[in-house]
Amino acid sequence: MGSKQPLKSGEKILFGIFGVFIILAVVGYIALEIVRQGRDKPMFESKTTYVFDELGQQGSAVFRHAQCTSCHRAMRNGTNMGLDLDGIGSQRTFDELVAFLKEPEKNYPAATIDHGAAPKEAAYVAKMTDVEIRSLAAFLSGLRAETGSSAARKPPEEESGFIDNMVRIWAPKSWASRFQDVRDPESTAPVAPVTPKP
Ligand code: HEC
Repeated sequence: MGSKQPLKSGEKILFGIFGVFIILAVVGYIALEIVRQGRDKPMFESKTTYVFDELGQQGSAVFRHAQCTSCHRAMRNGTNMGLDLDGIGSQRTFDELVAFLKEPEKNYPAATIDHGAAPKEAAYVAKMTDVEIRSLAAFLSGLRAETGSSAARKPPEEESGFIDNMVRIWAPKSWASRFQDVRDPESTAPVAPVTPKP
């Protein structure tokens, strides 16, 4: 007891590889930060924008006071834990947002976790006043995403062989009759189809 066993050569190699990975990660991170700070343009272009009318501006204050940011992110503020609402205004209309905030369980394409009747954690949202809910919806409508950003309903305008291939390979055949392709100009699909979470 007490005497340490020397490392076996396999262990040395394993720890060595592990050590190299850590060093590479640290060096890579430092290099990235140096490059990023030296640039005058942001490294990753922001594809989300916001435009608010007066009601939307009131809504942004309501959004903060009503603790929405404890679960959501908007205008790159808030928590990373929950749903990012940047770009939501390009996916849902004002009326859809009002309907969701008032009656989330009826107006969400999947079972809700936090919005809905008590004891769900965001049950208080549906009980807010009509004025507050409409201002929130106006604020959320102003959170836009450029076409092609991951938050946008539609992919980029130009033809994408990549997207076509992915759809062809991965989308089950039955989806063709169940969902409309949002890229189809005749599509009237109000929201992007939500695939049920496993
Ligand atoms: C306790 C956490 C929590 C709080 C607080 C919360 N939300 Fe949510 N929100 C969620 C979750 C989770 C979802 C996804 C639906 C669900 O499971 O309830 C969601 C969904 C949404 C959606 C629908 C997004 C979509 O894709 O259609 C909107 C809009 C929304 N929240 C707005 C708000 C607003 C406005 C507030 C503040 C008044 C708020 N939320 C407070 C957790 C929360």
